[in-house]
Amino acid sequence: MNKFKIDFGKFKVDLKLLGDLFFLTGAGLSMYYLVSHLLNEGAMGDNSVKAKEARKKSSNVLKRIQAVNPELKNIVFTEYEKSLLNCLVTPEDISVTFDDIGGLTNIIDDLRESVILPLTEPDLFATHSSLIQSPKGVLFHGPPGCGKTMLAKAIAKESGAFFLSLRMSTIMDKWYGESNKIVDAVFSLANKLQPCIIFIDEIDSFLRDRSSSDHEVSAMLKAEFMTLWDGLVSNGRIMVMGATNRQNDIDAAFLRRLPKKFAIGRPDASQRRSILNKILKETTVDPVDFDMDYIVTHTQGLSGSDLKELCREAALNAMREYIRKNFKNGKKVELATNDAVRPLKTGDFFAEKAQIPSSTID
Ligand SMILES: Nc1ncnc2c1ncn2[C@@H]1O[C@H](COP(=O)(O)OP(=O)(O)OP(=O)(O)O)[C@@H](O)[C@H]1O
Ligand SMILES: [Mg+2]
Repeated sequence: MNKFKIDFGKFKVDLKLLGDLFFLTGAGLSMYYLVSHLLNEGAMGDNSVKAKEARKKSSNVLKRIQAVNPELKNIVFTEYEKSLLNCLVTPEDISVTFDDIGGLTNIIDDLRESVILPLTEPDLFATHSSLIQSPKGVLFHGPPGCGKTMLAKAIAKESGAFFLSLRMSTIMDKWYGESNKIVDAVFSLANKLQPCIIFIDEIDSFLRDRSSSDHEVSAMLKAEFMTLWDGLVSNGRIMVMGATNRQNDIDAAFLRRLPKKFAIGRPDASQRRSILNKILKETTVDPVDFDMDYIVTHTQGLSGSDLKELCREAALNAMREYIRKNFKNGKKVELATNDAVRPLKTGDFFAEKAQIPSSTID
């Protein structure tokens, strides 16, 4: 008799085969649990502290938007859509208005007509000829710090639209197939929330020129994004808006889908004056020693953001003087006169600490 076989009369049990069978079943089961655990880690079932926090945050956002818009209470959101709620900015959260933006009056007027009206008055555009349809995409391009992001935020505020602010990292998921579901969710969420602006800042990093060296997943994602974008049938109540300072890097097919383009360049003299007036509107300036003309002519080549930094340094300059006079070793000293921070003077803008960054001058 074979030593691995037990003979029960009619039945012969092969012990070696039995052992192999047990081993294979055990290995199969552990493999199954390992794979399903790994998949759950990456997918929506992620139970890490970070994922739990994100879910809590998104459910808070949902409660908040449902409180303001009761009609959203009847809408069911998928897990992927809920995960995107963290990127949602409501008009109430935005503090920037067109009034805060200096020197872009022409662009703002155009935006009011071609972007805001279609979002707020879709019927006006639906009843008119099919030619006057609102743009499906708007692109702001130009050098850094000139107000592109600020303009996009102001549009969301002024139009009362939801603002879904996306970054490449929001869309790209390390798990194969997840990114596609997130892209789908972007458009389905926007559809449920409309009016909604899908804003992709630094859009060149996402919709870069497609090349043969593209990773398979990102090529698929771009194709998916374009298909969903083409499928938008919402009378302009959903709009894709992008901002970039490298327009040339964007794929021609995407550029075509962003038909309304606004060049936001470095401000000229009159624009700089207007920006400075906006930035300094709540600041007291010296009635005698403050020369706006001088500041405007000596800030050529600066962007809106550089001007803001210049004003901040100027204000700090006046503050430093006050601190030196009124504080000793971090404690306020009692002075005979009731001293206040003095108004800003022209010199504050060109003091050593407030030097213009030479790299920004054209
Ligand atoms: N036209 C402007 N009027 C008033 N403030 C401005 C203007 N342009 C820029 N600023 C100031 O500069 C800051 C930066 O602007 P913003 O973020 O919109 O620049 P951007 O064009 O998006 O730059 P980037 O290309 O680097 O993203 C704003 O928060 C604002 O304080
Ligand atoms: Mg920006």
